[in-house]
Amino acid sequence: MLFWVVCMLALAWPLAVVAAAAAAAAAAAAAAAAAEVQQPSTDGLPGHHDMASDALLQWVRNNGGQVHVAVRHVPGRGRGTYAAWDLAPGDILASIPVELVYAANYSLGLGFESAGPTLVLDMTEPTSFWQPYFSSLPKPGQVLSKELIPQPYLPIIQDENTEAAIRLLQDNIEHYCRLLQPAFVKLQLEANVTHCAHGTALLSTRTFSYNSQEVLLPIVDLANHDNACLHTHRVEPCDVAKGNKQREEGLPAPEIPASFASGVVIPAEPQDKEVTAACSNKEKSQQRAGSCRANLNPKQSRGVSGICIVWRAETVVAKGGELCNNYGLLLQDNTVLQYGFLQAGDIALELSMLDRPEHSQKFEEVWDKPKSTWGQPLPHKFTGTAQDVETEVQRLSTRLAALKARDAAVASIETHSDDPGGRILAMLLEWRQQRLRAIELEMQRLAALREEMRLDAIDEL
Ligand SMILES: *[C@@H]1O[C@H](CO)[C@@H](O)[C@H](O)[C@H]1NC(C)=O
Ligand SMILES: *[C@@H]1O[C@H](CO)[C@@H](O)[C@H](O)[C@H]1NC(C)=O
Repeated sequence: MLFWVVCMLALAWPLAVVAAAAAAAAAAAAAAAAAEVQQPSTDGLPGHHDMASDALLQWVRNNGGQVHVAVRHVPGRGRGTYAAWDLAPGDILASIPVELVYAANYSLGLGFESAGPTLVLDMTEPTSFWQPYFSSLPKPGQVLSKELIPQPYLPIIQDENTEAAIRLLQDNIEHYCRLLQPAFVKLQLEANVTHCAHGTALLSTRTFSYNSQEVLLPIVDLANHDNACLHTHRVEPCDVAKGNKQREEGLPAPEIPASFASGVVIPAEPQDKEVTAACSNKEKSQQRAGSCRANLNPKQSRGVSGICIVWRAETVVAKGGELCNNYGLLLQDNTVLQYGFLQAGDIALELSMLDRPEHSQKFEEVWDKPKSTWGQPLPHKFTGTAQDVETEVQRLSTRLAALKARDAAVASIETHSDDPGGRILAMLLEWRQQRLRAIELEMQRLAALREEMRLDAIDEL
C-alpha cells in the first residue's frame, strides 16, 4: 500500500516542481517530498530504490565508472550496498575514476573541523560537478556523531579527555564556520554552526585515504561497516577486465527505475529553505530556468586519467547479499562517538575503547582505535600474571563504581533542542548501559581466570 503512495508521488513530482517554481517555500516542500521518493526493487534484490542513490549510480556510470552493486534501503538496516549477482573473490563491485572523489579542502586550516564548513559551502553550489554525489549524502539530522552531540550530554560519556576533546572539536568547527561567514553571506546563507558541524561529521564518518589525501569516495561510502568485513579497494587502471562479470558474462547492470534515471537531481539538503531560496535568487539573476538542477549527463566525462579506485569482493557473496566495508576494527564507543551508530551483536558485550587498559590517557590520542590485526573480528582479551589480573580487576571495579555513582544524575539529562527526537540521547544512554554490562562481564571473566591461575599454582606445588 505504502509503495503505491510513494510511486504516485514519484510520477507527480515533475509537475509539482513546475507548479511551485514561483514560490521558494513550496519548492522546498516539493523537493523534500521528492527526496523521500522510493520504489520497491523489482529485480529480486532486497529493499527499495531511492532517487538520490540511483541518480548517483547513473552519474558514476556517465563519468566513466562502473557500478556492479545495487544501492537499496532495507527496513531496519537503512541504506546499503547489495550484490547484483552471485559474486566470487576478485569480482569488481565498483570502479570509481579518481576524478569523481571529493578531496577534503584544508585551505582554511588542518582537520575536518576546517574542511567541514568548506564542504557545506561547496554543497550549496547547485551547479557543482559533485552535486549528484552531494545530493546522495545523509541530510542534517541523519548523522549523529561527536560533532553534533549537544554539550549537556557529555557527562553521559564520563571520560574527562573524551569530553574535552569533543568540546574542543565543536569550538573549532564554530571558529571555522565564523571565518566562512562572508562566503555564506554572499550566498545569502547563514553560517549556522549545526550546519557546519554536519559538514565535518560527513567528512569524519565517510572519508578514505587516497594519494595522501582524505577523500569522499562515491558508492564505496554507501557500504555499511562490519568488523569482520574483508572486501577491499585499491588504485587500479579503470579498464581492468579481470573480475568484470558484467563484461565477461553479459550480466545486466543493476536496475534503475526509468523515472529515477531522468537526468535531474535535487540540490543537496533540499529541506533547507535557505538553499532553495539561494537557488531561486540565482535563477532570477541568471534568467536561466533549471540552473539549480545539476546536470546528470555532463557533456564531458571527467574520467580522463584512466585511474580508478576499484572495489572488489574478497569472499563469495550470493545475489542479494549485503556488501560491507571495513573501517578498521571498531569497538562500541568508536562507532557511537565517531560514526554515530550502535553496533548490534556480541561487540556490545566487549569493553569500549575508553574503558580498556591499553587506551591512551593522552589527550591527543583520545580517538585512537584498537590496535589489532585488520579484519580480526574481536580485540584481544586482557591477560598477564596473577598480579596483572588483580590490578586490572581493581581498575575495572573502580571504574564501574564511578559510573554507577553518576547513573542517577545522567538519567535526569533532558532531550536537547539540537537533538530532535532525542536519538543521540537514546543512543548514548543505551551505550552507557552496555558499557556497565561489559565491565561486569570482563570482571567475571578475570575472576575465573584468576581462579584458574590459583588452581594451576596449587597443581605445581
Ligand atoms: C578550497 O577552498 C578555497 C576557499 O574556500 C577555494 O578558494 C579553493 O578553490 C578550494 N580548493 C579546491 C581544490 O576546491
Ligand atoms: C541550522 O541549520 C540546521 C540544518 O540546516 C537547521 O536544522 C537548524 O534549524 C539551523 N539552526 C539555526 C539556529 O538556524
